Amino acid sequence: MKATAVAPSNIAFIKYWGRKNEVLRLPSNGSISMNLSNLTTTTTVEFSTEYTNDIVSINGQQEGEGIERVIKQLDRIREITHNAAKAKVVSENNFPTATGLSSSASGFAALTLAATMAAGLHLSEKDLSILARQGSGSACRSIPTGFVEWLDGDTTETSYAVSLYKPDYFDIVDIVAITDTGKKDVTTSQGHKISATSPFFVTRLKNMPEKIKLFKTYLEKKDFNSLGALTEQEALELHAIYFTLNPSLIYLRPESLSIIKAVQKWRKEGLSVYFTLNTGQDVHIICQKKDIRKIDELLKTVAGVKQTIINFPSIGAHVVDSHLF
Ligand code: PMV
Repeated sequence: MKATAVAPSNIAFIKYWGRKNEVLRLPSNGSISMNLSNLTTTTTVEFSTEYTNDIVSINGQQEGEGIERVIKQLDRIREITHNAAKAKVVSENNFPTATGLSSSASGFAALTLAATMAAGLHLSEKDLSILARQGSGSACRSIPTGFVEWLDGDTTETSYAVSLYKPDYFDIVDIVAITDTGKKDVTTSQGHKISATSPFFVTRLKNMPEKIKLFKTYLEKKDFNSLGALTEQEALELHAIYFTLNPSLIYLRPESLSIIKAVQKWRKEGLSVYFTLNTGQDVHIICQKKDIRKIDELLKTVAGVKQTIINFPSIGAHVVDSHLF
């Protein structure tokens, strides 16, 4: 059977960093994110006894670490169905892979939904989120709709994402300022593994429950400026951890810093605008719908900004009728 799913990437306001269980991908802390309307992956999966091997194509590439992770995810599904049939998988992002734009989140969410449907499984949102998490942690947040919380949990059954609010709850916009389309030197997966080498990591985890509570209060009150300030503080804290890992990870580039400084200047001049960062050099600008045009124009004047992608809050992973093969 063949099935196709589309899944959004997501931007975390409160970030997932580090794992308390590597194999099961149980995160060290909970996280909160928003699904992104314009950063999506479409994936078609077909299981058939006619295939002698899994045939996987991601953005036209047929080999690499990503392919092995996809096959591992197919194996997890085969374990559930007790059906050994091999699969053909074709996956396409509508944005550049491995720039820090979390292609693994949209990728594993789309793969999990398409592959389970193609295998004849009709899993609940919770079970899909649990399964997506095992492929790539942040992918579990791309399954539910809109604004999402990943409950860290202590077991595989208790670590999954839930929707806090639908996409139309709050008109937050994420404008991604892309500075470079090159790949990262150190992957996010490798980074998670050394998280405890930063002396600040323990403090981060200690403060996390309070931070999550505070963020949820701001979201509930739709207090954009408090939410933005906390989001920015969280991104800088994460990069302070990256700097102090052993070996240290420096994802930011001069262009990223130029954007960060520009955002802080625009804020001083009266605009409600904030930034957040992931494991990459691109900067996510957080603003409200009313300011999109102005901020997008300003961003394009910052040296090193190659492209901007405007994202509204979006629905989670969903099945579509048109297949990629
Ligand atoms: O799911 P991963 O292994 O790609 O990790 C994502 C880590 C961050 O993007 C930095 C933070 C987050 O919560 O998305």
